[in-house]
Amino acid sequence: MISVAIDGPSGAGKSTVAKLIAREFGYIYVDTGAMYRAVAVYFLENKKNIADIEQVVKALDDIKIKIEYINKEQHMFLNGVDVTGKLRTPSVSMAASDISAIKEVREFLLLAQKDMAKKFNVIMDGRDIATVVLPDADVKIFLTASPEQRAKRRYDELKATQQNISYEEVMSDMKLRDYNDSNRKTAPLKPSEESVIVDSTNLSLDETVKFIKDLIEERTSGK
Ligand code: DC
Repeated sequence: MISVAIDGPSGAGKSTVAKLIAREFGYIYVDTGAMYRAVAVYFLENKKNIADIEQVVKALDDIKIKIEYINKEQHMFLNGVDVTGKLRTPSVSMAASDISAIKEVREFLLLAQKDMAKKFNVIMDGRDIATVVLPDADVKIFLTASPEQRAKRRYDELKATQQNISYEEVMSDMKLRDYNDSNRKTAPLKPSEESVIVDSTNLSLDETVKFIKDLIEERTSGK
């Protein structure tokens, strides 16, 4: 099996790049952020206090997360209900970042993530894929870009779905999430020692995809 890990901060373009590469190489694209987001939806919808870690850990027994691929798109099912359309809001982003700092929440999702890579050729994006989830990945990429560029991309994305939010709010939310994700104790966002760092600030999408595709071809030739 081939596995490609793409880690990096939010708005770096991981999912756009990973989707294009998955389509081209016939890999399954696994968006692990969506798994954390689906768990966050549970806590928001059930009005649980996510600051109460004990309560969060206890509630994991009541949560079933399932990934399904419908028309080649990843859908997240939360206790049997497709919640994919609810995942990309600022409140879910923040709650996902908060609950993802909890060790038990990470362990809860880890097996399913590892399992995907045992069954399929995958390109998996997240924060700890190269460091924790797939330490033996064939290719490890850390995709990043300047905070301004990342906030602009997120802002354009949110605007496209008609969400009422200012660029300044997107920037401050993003900085907070970057801080949370990089400074937590368990599996913080950071490149692994073998990760190739790709800074896409001054690269077009095509250039970024080409660079990563060439790297994958080079590293997996003969496999
Ligand atoms: O990639 P994303 O923005 O959809 O992820 C949402 C949150 O989930 C992110 O702020 C941190 C967390 N996350 C994580 O801790 N580990 C992952 N592998 C993926 C996401």
